[in-house]
Amino acid sequence: MNVPRVPSVTKRAIGWHYDLATPFYRWLWGVHIHHGLWEGEETPEQAQQQLIERLASAAGLTANMRVLDVGCGMGGSSIYLARQLGCQVTGLTLSRTQLLWARLAAWRQGVHRRVTIHRQDAETASFAPASFDALWSIECTEHLFDRGRFFQSATRWLRPGGRVGICAWLAGDRPHSADTTRQIDAVCTGFLCPSLGTADDYLTWMREAGLAQIAWLDWTNQVTRTWEICLQRVQRSKVRHLAWLGGRAMTRFLDHFDVILQAYRSGAMKYGCFTAQRPEG
Ligand SMILES: C[S@@+](CC[C@H](N)C(=O)[O-])C[C@H]1O[C@@H](n2cnc3c(N)ncnc32)[C@H](O)[C@@H]1O
Repeated sequence: MNVPRVPSVTKRAIGWHYDLATPFYRWLWGVHIHHGLWEGEETPEQAQQQLIERLASAAGLTANMRVLDVGCGMGGSSIYLARQLGCQVTGLTLSRTQLLWARLAAWRQGVHRRVTIHRQDAETASFAPASFDALWSIECTEHLFDRGRFFQSATRWLRPGGRVGICAWLAGDRPHSADTTRQIDAVCTGFLCPSLGTADDYLTWMREAGLAQIAWLDWTNQVTRTWEICLQRVQRSKVRHLAWLGGRAMTRFLDHFDVILQAYRSGAMKYGCFTAQRPEG
């Protein structure tokens, strides 16, 4: 499945972005670097927590599972799964800042024996077959360069019957007009995604990797409020002045909050929750 790539996005740039941007995310949004999921008048913190809870329940995560958290950020999900479900979690990130942050957070919350964080590219990582009971990834797969291959590897790392729960930024359904393509490219450039797959692309990658019971939920309308709130917070706070310290990439990143909001509103982008299972036997 060939999805056009944005050439300016490299692995190094992604790692560097999170090295610099993690304190901004923490300040602006909290310990989770992912959208909130609204069902009513929840606070942003409740909405972020709700997204994790809904994903865990849709994916069928249960107590004491061995979980691989691909793109673990500041360790928000890893720590949640370790604390709430007693899971043994391995988290991967490209960022040195996040590696230290997540390890420290796990230690402070008393789950450092159940949460192991590595600075490791998920696309070159290697784990023994059947190492995990669940694959978990929130808003990381949009940073991957060959998602088809990633799903093939990750499926091997799961034990038979192992669960998959993924939240991802998506391109709207094809065909894409020139305007849609322009909006997707702008989001990819601002947020360092080599490309965005459509929901159908994800379903195909998962099916071709041998996963079963594949399902997805379109959460676009329930998550879009995230960017309205972030935009307000940027406008009201001094974060823009601070972003100058991080250089052009950081100010461009803040400028793109409006771009992503427009992309959701126009249908150029969607937000999906994917679940699946490695077949038994
Ligand atoms: C938007 S953040 C999401 C963080 C976390 N899942 C959360 O919800 O708070 C994206 C994460 O993906 C990680 N990431 C991006 N590309 C990666 C790769 N190839 N391998 C491992 N992690 C990657 C980044 O380092 C970052 O931690």
